[in-house]
Amino acid sequence: MMQVKVFEDYDTLSRYAADIFLEQIEKKPDAVLGLATGGTPEGFYKHLITSYQNEKLDFSTLRTFNLDEYYPIKREHPQSYWTFMNDRLFAYVNIPNRNIHLPNGETTNVDAECNRYEEEIGSIGGVDIQILGIGENGHIGFNEPGASFDSRTRMVELTKNTIQANSRYFESEEDVPRHAITMGIASIMQSKKIVILASGVKKAEAVAKAIQGEVTEELPASILQKHPDVIFLLDKEAASLLQS
Ligand code: PGA
Repeated sequence: MMQVKVFEDYDTLSRYAADIFLEQIEKKPDAVLGLATGGTPEGFYKHLITSYQNEKLDFSTLRTFNLDEYYPIKREHPQSYWTFMNDRLFAYVNIPNRNIHLPNGETTNVDAECNRYEEEIGSIGGVDIQILGIGENGHIGFNEPGASFDSRTRMVELTKNTIQANSRYFESEEDVPRHAITMGIASIMQSKKIVILASGVKKAEAVAKAIQGEVTEELPASILQKHPDVIFLLDKEAASLLQS
């Protein structure tokens, strides 16, 4: 079932998303969390950390899998998704390093790395709850328009649109890696529960198409209409093109 919730502002949306995760963690302290990078989930991570600190929570039995990582990129690179996650969450909570998983952007054997990642997720029973953003072009993870709904973890080429959108974090557009290793759409759809966030008018068109448009590989997030337990959390701007 798909639910859609619209919030006054980004902060309320972020807190709501964190509360959904905290409820899941309370129910299942060894839950497998699917995590995402990007500007949108930053508020979500801030609220998770605040609750962790204020309520003296224990995250030591959680396991995490991130959606994607640039390729190639050194783990310690300031713009790697490993660094992003470390700076936004992992440095502040007690999730043990061994429980943290991201695709390895330093690998020399991409195929083996993709298979390993996919198998590792499967071997611990799959993701219990996945946080997602949505690209301006409707991508989820780095599954760009045209990606197969059957896709699994693999290397992909980034589109021009995504390179431009992400260049704000790099010194120049030339510095953005051209490839990434990403969980596939089928891998994402296996998550038991999905929480997808969108904020700002730039996302409004992709959000409207994802929720109310045709289910098509041209708009990867539209597949979520087929997921049994997905919730869209939107601010007013991101919801502005939805038909009531
Ligand atoms: P953003 O990226 O949160 O930085 O807008 C979302 C995405 O591209 O999935």
